[in-house]
Amino acid sequence: MPGKVILGAQWGDEGKGKFIDIFAAKADMVIRSQGGNNAGHTVVADGVKYKLQLIPSGILYPECVNIIGPGVVVNPKSILGEIDGLHAQGISTGRLFIDARVHCIMPWHLELDALSEAEKAKEGTAIGTTRKGIGPTYMDKSERSGIRMHDFVDPERFEAVVRETCARKNRVITGVYGGKPLDVETILAEYRAYAERLRLMVKDTTIMIYDAVKAGKEVLFEGAQGTLLDLDMGTYPFVTSSHPVAGGCCIGSGVGPTAVSEVTGIFKSYTTRVGEGPFPTELFDETGDYIRNAGGEFGTVTGRPRRTGWFDAVIAKYAVRVNGLTEMVINKIDPLRGLPKLKVCVAYKLRNGETITDFPANFMDLVDCEPVYEEFDGFDEDITACRRFEELPGHVRQYIKELERICGCPITMLGVGPGRDQVITI
Ligand code: GDP
Ligand code: IMO
Ligand code: MG
Repeated sequence: MPGKVILGAQWGDEGKGKFIDIFAAKADMVIRSQGGNNAGHTVVADGVKYKLQLIPSGILYPECVNIIGPGVVVNPKSILGEIDGLHAQGISTGRLFIDARVHCIMPWHLELDALSEAEKAKEGTAIGTTRKGIGPTYMDKSERSGIRMHDFVDPERFEAVVRETCARKNRVITGVYGGKPLDVETILAEYRAYAERLRLMVKDTTIMIYDAVKAGKEVLFEGAQGTLLDLDMGTYPFVTSSHPVAGGCCIGSGVGPTAVSEVTGIFKSYTTRVGEGPFPTELFDETGDYIRNAGGEFGTVTGRPRRTGWFDAVIAKYAVRVNGLTEMVINKIDPLRGLPKLKVCVAYKLRNGETITDFPANFMDLVDCEPVYEEFDGFDEDITACRRFEELPGHVRQYIKELERICGCPITMLGVGPGRDQVITI
């Protein structure tokens, strides 16, 4: 079977980790193809919580090969911390491979992320990044001055590329931002040890992926972030610097589009966002607080409270279209319990009086726009133990059917709790 893409269809944190872990039970390979440790994917297996940032969510299955593809950016220190953490939890990482083309997130990228955000904050234009150095690393990649993994783990090349790049970056840190220069000797000593540890994991993973696809193995592409955070298709400039949309998985894994046959979009039954930027259905009242607390909506990576709001079907239809979704998963339905009415946004009324049903290209159209809602009955029952669609209360079934009708895409699975087993296949 050619590959299946599982991606975030909103602004991230939809529960991708949980579903990748579920699908990975039957998969031979799980591939991350974009983003870095700005991602925070939670898997709850047999009551134990695993928080993954760079390592694919197939890692809990000892037979599954896990790949960090060419389009990912890797912080060597962070990935080794994650590996050590998994080992401490009894999880082997012997089947983890990193592509030789991956770009390394280095200390200057973290510094420049923080300095750039501080500068933008003064002008009121901060993005609210995760401060993991993601943007600056992808900037270097596009500028063709980044450090790739094959150089980082090459004992001959390591020192030269680190010295040369650090000198160049120090000129920017001090000259442009008035910051303190980084000490290259300290970085060399620390990062040489990381390179030693990572060397054996570095491969041309595109050959492994191609062979797996060709052999008809079960291959999963694990999306990070979400459609609305895509560099092109998201709410630019309040986006990340990679391509979380379905097409990004091909570029970031080094495979052609024929390697993909299914695209699953993960949605929450409501909407959340971390960081700055427009969010038409955002709730600033007690309903927003209720959803945040009921859904535990606090960032996996940064601990920041997530902004919360109603399900936005304008966004959902956009995600169906730009990702070519073959199916939708509606996750985290249980946190809506106790709300008398459930609202779904079906259009935006713009400041100029126009009403639109297609997500706009210019985020400025979203500023002060008024969401147009359809309203449905809520539910009071505890649904966390339901395992079949028929066991769900009538109002939940009706809500799901209405979402399917409005979005025009089959809904095939539901999430009713954080556990691996807390899903319903329709
Ligand atoms: P990801 O980045 O898309 O993998 O999502 P995160 O892990 O950042 O955020 C999802 C959060 O919701 C995690 O804390 C999960 O354990 C939790 N979660 C996942 N599915 C469900 C669900 O169906 N119900 C509830 N209540 N929590 C869930
Ligand atoms: P997962 O994979 C939610 C957001 C940040 C910020 C913007 C840019 O867990 O769903 P960056 O550090 O990438 O330059 O920040 O993107 N962001 C996420 N929001 N989930 C994520 O990942 C995110 N990764 C980045 O909050 O608004
Ligand atoms: Mg997350």
